[in-house]
Amino acid sequence: MKQTTEYNCDVLVIGSGAAGLSLALKLAKHCQVIVLSKSKISEGSTKYAQGGIAAVFDESDSIDSHVADTMEAGAGICEHKVVEFTAKNARDSMQWLIDTGVDFDEETNAKGETKYHLTREGGHSHRRILHAADATGKAVQYTLSDAVQLHPNIRLFERFNAIDLITSKNDKKQCLGCYVWNREIEQVEVIRSRFTALCTGGASKVYQYTSNPDIASGDGIAMAWRAGCRVANMEFNQFHPTCLYHPQAKNFLITEALRGEGAYLRHADGTRFMERFDERLELAPRDIVARAIDYEMKRLGADCMYLDISHKPAEFVIKHFPNIYKKCRTLGIDITRDPIPVVPAAHYSCGGVMTDLNAKTDLNNVYAVGEVAYTGLHGANRMASNSLLECVVFAHSAANSILSRLDETLTQETIQPWDESRVSDSDEEVVIQHNWHELRLFMWDYVGIVRTNKRLERAMHRIELLKQEIQDYYANFRVSNNLLELRNLLTVAELIVRSAMQRKESRGLHYNLDYPEQLENASPTILSPEEIKSKNV
Ligand code: FAD
Ligand code: SIN
Repeated sequence: MKQTTEYNCDVLVIGSGAAGLSLALKLAKHCQVIVLSKSKISEGSTKYAQGGIAAVFDESDSIDSHVADTMEAGAGICEHKVVEFTAKNARDSMQWLIDTGVDFDEETNAKGETKYHLTREGGHSHRRILHAADATGKAVQYTLSDAVQLHPNIRLFERFNAIDLITSKNDKKQCLGCYVWNREIEQVEVIRSRFTALCTGGASKVYQYTSNPDIASGDGIAMAWRAGCRVANMEFNQFHPTCLYHPQAKNFLITEALRGEGAYLRHADGTRFMERFDERLELAPRDIVARAIDYEMKRLGADCMYLDISHKPAEFVIKHFPNIYKKCRTLGIDITRDPIPVVPAAHYSCGGVMTDLNAKTDLNNVYAVGEVAYTGLHGANRMASNSLLECVVFAHSAANSILSRLDETLTQETIQPWDESRVSDSDEEVVIQHNWHELRLFMWDYVGIVRTNKRLERAMHRIELLKQEIQDYYANFRVSNNLLELRNLLTVAELIVRSAMQRKESRGLHYNLDYPEQLENASPTILSPEEIKSKNV
């Protein structure tokens, strides 16, 4: 068997978005860190975030109000202590980003004082969103990327796919590191680490239409599940109501801040329709707005609905939304005059790997931070701009926990080399491509914004068939990015469908026509790999 290259570090951070890079920077003063990125360092959902980050900065606002709004958006199943923890730590976390170099927009008030400009989004009862125009994610991502690339204690491995966590043979709760696929040389290698942090982002690519970049294939969720970690609330996938509908625009979001600043949703003939769905109109939480748009599109047989901010002064629109203005102009839409064609698309995974307030998972030395994790913050529906916040708040608590444990002894167990003796190069890439399309299409059609028992059963049946095919394929052919992602997406799809089947009600982002009511008492949906294996279901 060929020798497998082995790298060593104190902490392996898998993922280079807001979660991974914040964690790496916090740790690197005290230990050696490797950061892994499946693509280039800056490619992930973080870079595409538009609206901003929620934190209480306005004097008329309060932590209690941020907590209450988050709980309300989460439709009754957020974990109160987690929401409180996040809201309380929001300001310090934002100060850390500012100190690291993120330039949030400021404004000068009538008294001549300069303050951060706070925008508003659905579900927030106050202006609470710090932002950098309509490209907040870019400001955060590039600032953190620059700092990480300059840090002497951080080694960055770009174009490396984490494949699987390596658990100890003697103690299944102990992780020795990770098998990784080096895409440049097309070899599987090993990274041995005292602690490992999954910061791999969400899984919205499991749906045909998504606002997310290509990396969002749920790798961290699938890896954690295979290694024995519980996951929670996987049925709650958020659909953003307003993605640009245009043949030449792939995955382009039209930020909710547009509605926060007064944009209206309209039919093609100009009629507004949100008053028929919620008294908060365009500022109702996202699940309600997305369902309303979906309902109207299906009712009228329309390809899209329209978002219109043309009644606001052109200078205001261009100043606040320069990137959306520019992008739409390139497609022949002048948002200061024309309504913008929009459709809902899969946007955010509210569920994920279960963690505690230190971001620790069920494995003793594995943490999960950011969209990959289920902390309990979002409940059945994430409130806008609470996600980047969660990345930074929990990166800090994970860093504090890891640093307090750096003296723990390291197991010296040998790691099994990667066995490629029985595999060959794939000559049937078309199989992967076909399964890939099939999976994302039936997830969109059967497990999307509106579900039924029958559709969920159909989806599960398809998943079972694909599982066998992909397992055979994985056992016989050399790994590739597409194969690794497909294997992970299939696991995530199964977890979503299983969770959706367990919930016998409609709540937040999970809407099932066979159970349209909300139960009086409900709790998060928790799936455990051990339990499913033991029941053999
Ligand atoms: P990401 O930023 O997605 O980073 C994931 C990282 O993991 C990437 O570096 C990727 O390469 C790496 N990775 C994944 N799998 C592997 C693997 N197998 N091996 C190695 N590396 C891997 N939230 C807000 O709070 N406010 C907003 O305004 C906002 N706007 C948004 C707009 C858009 C268009 C989108 C898509 C999302 C938006 N969100 C917003 C959500 C928010 O951006 C994300 O939830 C957040 O950025 C997730 O950060 P992360 O660090 O967890 O993951
Ligand atoms: C947006 O800008 O509309 C996205 C905000 C978010 O997903 O939190």
